[in-house]
Amino acid sequence: MDTYRKAVENHYTAADDLLAVIERASRRAGREFQTLTREDIAALDEFHIRGRAATREMAQLAGVKSEMRVLDLGCGIGGPARTLAAEYGCTVVGVDLLAEYCRAATALSAQVGLQEQVTFLQGDITALPLPDRGFDLLWIQHVTMNIPNKQRLATEAKRLLCPGGRLALFEVYAGELSPLHFPVPWAGDASISFLTSYPEMQALLVDQGFYEIARQDQTALSRDWFLRVATAIQSRPTPPQSALSVNLLMGETAPEKARNMARNLAEDRIRVIQSVWEIELS
Ligand SMILES: C[S@@+](CC[C@H](N)C(=O)[O-])C[C@H]1O[C@@H](n2cnc3c(N)ncnc32)[C@H](O)[C@@H]1O
Repeated sequence: MDTYRKAVENHYTAADDLLAVIERASRRAGREFQTLTREDIAALDEFHIRGRAATREMAQLAGVKSEMRVLDLGCGIGGPARTLAAEYGCTVVGVDLLAEYCRAATALSAQVGLQEQVTFLQGDITALPLPDRGFDLLWIQHVTMNIPNKQRLATEAKRLLCPGGRLALFEVYAGELSPLHFPVPWAGDASISFLTSYPEMQALLVDQGFYEIARQDQTALSRDWFLRVATAIQSRPTPPQSALSVNLLMGETAPEKARNMARNLAEDRIRVIQSVWEIELS
């Protein structure tokens, strides 16, 4: 594994045994792991701005249908994959760089009875051992910020999609100002943060034969959300990293990351956009 991948892996590794951490947090919340429902883990398993609400919005934007075979690229611990399976009836394959995330994703999916509909594979989304044209929908939420070679990602996306298939992106892009205030949820410093502007991403995708069918700028919504999150974290009596929430994955710098996100968004250092693309039929 090259240095950058190792650094990304280190950044997202909150614990060697993530399931044990989740089990302890469940008990603190008064629940045994074996009784957890999708509702109980909703604040934990969707590792992106505005959680499950944002996933549902993108599903709407992408026209998700039950017969779709979905590939969730950079799936984290599998929350979005489970939402698409449970609420839309899709079959989903999730891929993540971290074996530990895939292990947690598999266990959580079995716990909520979705093991037949969602499966997980450890791998790098810019070079996947998956067949050509095997999916109807590629799903990416808050991942491209860690990918230095977006050209390769765009080529892989084209290869993996069946003709007429869709690509749904919910990503953070560069704004007018730089540098960012670090740490942020995807990087402790600039060494693993690779932001492009939205027009740069558009150009890459158009070049591969994708055309944009929907777009929603969620920058203002995201800024307001982070302001609320940062305030809520501060006023909580328990340490934020011990609750059954996404802070388990972000570690003890979670409050600082939330404050920096609010600031980066307010100062136009970053923008947040959902977009849906279709690949041409030939
Ligand atoms: C902020 S999390 C988002 C997780 C998930 N998409 C969600 O919204 O819940 C980013 C994820 O991307 C994964 N990731 C980053 N670079 C990757 C790569 N090259 N290949 C596969 N996964 C990657 C990380 O391991 C991490 O789980």
